[in-house]
Amino acid sequence: EDPRINGIRTNIRVVPDFPKPGIMFQDITTLLLEPKVFKDAIDMFVERYKGKNITVVAGIEARGFIFGPPIALAIGAKFVPLRKPKKLPGGVMSEAYILEYGRDCLEMHVGAVEANERALVVDDLVATGGTLCAAINLLERAGAEVVECACVIEIPELKGRERLKGKPLYTLVEYR
Ligand code: PRP
Ligand code: MG
Repeated sequence: EDPRINGIRTNIRVVPDFPKPGIMFQDITTLLLEPKVFKDAIDMFVERYKGKNITVVAGIEARGFIFGPPIALAIGAKFVPLRKPKKLPGGVMSEAYILEYGRDCLEMHVGAVEANERALVVDDLVATGGTLCAAINLLERAGAEVVECACVIEIPELKGRERLKGKPLYTLVEYR
């Protein structure tokens, strides 16, 4: 195992029963307080994606906005925010998805991604995979190829990896 992984794992705070009873919340804000550990996480993604001709990093609101931009800058790709509804001022494409309770939606600006671009989707965590699946759908509707999805944390029990339409998923740590 990469020696940087242990520092990343131990700096993620697990908060029981937040925001609801039974949820073990994976809090990455503690990792952000340690510049060396935050840099290790970004470096691991950059080492994997540099030289892969990725033209766009799509970050998912909100915590994908923390990890996506430094990766995009380091690999020379543009950054495109995938936002919750009614936040983007221009024309948008929308993709609804199912949550444990109810529905949500991601939106992307029309024209932000062109046909035949190579996209990396970034978020902090994959649980059921519904959010990443909506992001993949948006990028594919714009004509982009989704090369991979990248998250800091995976919860294997929830099998999100199986909901990504066959796209590869790279994660740094697993929570079991
Ligand atoms: C969390 C997390 C992922 C998503 C994963 O975000 O940051 O984006 O859930 O869940 P899934 O794999 O089951 O779809 P949340 O929707 O809580 O919003 P936030 O990032 O804006 O806080
Ligand atoms: Mg999120």
